[in-house]
Amino acid sequence: MRTVYVNGQYLPETEATVSIFDRGFLMADGVYEVTSVLDGKLIDFDGHAVRLERSLTELDMRAACTKEELLEIHRELVRVNEITEGLIYLQITRGSDGDRDFIFPDPETTKPTIVMFTQNKPGLADSPAAKKGAKIISIEDIRWGRRDIKTVQLLYPSMGKMMAKAAGADDAWLIEDGHVTEGTSNNAYFVKNGKIVTRPLSTDILHGITRKAVLRMAEEAQMEVEERLFTIDEAKEADEAFTTSASAFVMPVVEIDGVVLGDGTPGPIATRLREIYLDESLKAAI
Ligand code: PDD
Repeated sequence: MRTVYVNGQYLPETEATVSIFDRGFLMADGVYEVTSVLDGKLIDFDGHAVRLERSLTELDMRAACTKEELLEIHRELVRVNEITEGLIYLQITRGSDGDRDFIFPDPETTKPTIVMFTQNKPGLADSPAAKKGAKIISIEDIRWGRRDIKTVQLLYPSMGKMMAKAAGADDAWLIEDGHVTEGTSNNAYFVKNGKIVTRPLSTDILHGITRKAVLRMAEEAQMEVEERLFTIDEAKEADEAFTTSASAFVMPVVEIDGVVLGDGTPGPIATRLREIYLDESLKAAI
């Protein structure tokens, strides 16, 4: 039985509730963050806190608590749930004013809802999936136009993962106007002749916290990085490919739409970046 956090209280998971009128439930009017835990410590907490604040600002939502309070709650949840390796999920919604209405409620009288819980994932760092590499398919990107805001509107990404599963693959990359935007829940990269290529930041993709760290570490390791639009065909002809996210770190991709990349095993650059990322992030974890 987990202890979770809801609106200022630590409760057993079976006792934590939110209103049926909550706008997160009725309108997907909420934002979230997923922070990983390694060795009982938070990976890149600051990056997630900064992005959360940006998501709230973009949607004209009030912060439910300060950054210091957020850190304290994260740490308390890790402690009471004895998490060594895992994830912390955080969601803030515009709350409930006791009815359904398209118009935002007055923030002076309607408080945001904040919910946090842990997911215990032993073996997150030493993952068998990362040793094997992921098979991905490509599907059309039909999401809304503000993917830089980390909202809880995750129906299409869920459908994308189901399409991948039905096709015998692990995940999907999304294509808009002939170019790859990102993965269903990760940022997308390919490597050709030693150069790492990924889409530049815009409102078309989520500004991954792992992406930022990995690109910095790649440059520090003298790897060449190019941020530009790319097609799925370029990725299929690549030497290797990978994705990044807080929940899977650097995940090698070994197959795209049935086309095997290289020898079908995780490539050297993705493998090296995963090692560097885990190593450096753990050193900086709080
Ligand atoms: N997903 N792009 C999308 C669409 C995402 O949902 C995510 C994260 C990322 C990677 O961002 P970061 O490196 O900050 O985790 C990119 C989280 C892990 C999730 O929904 O579970």
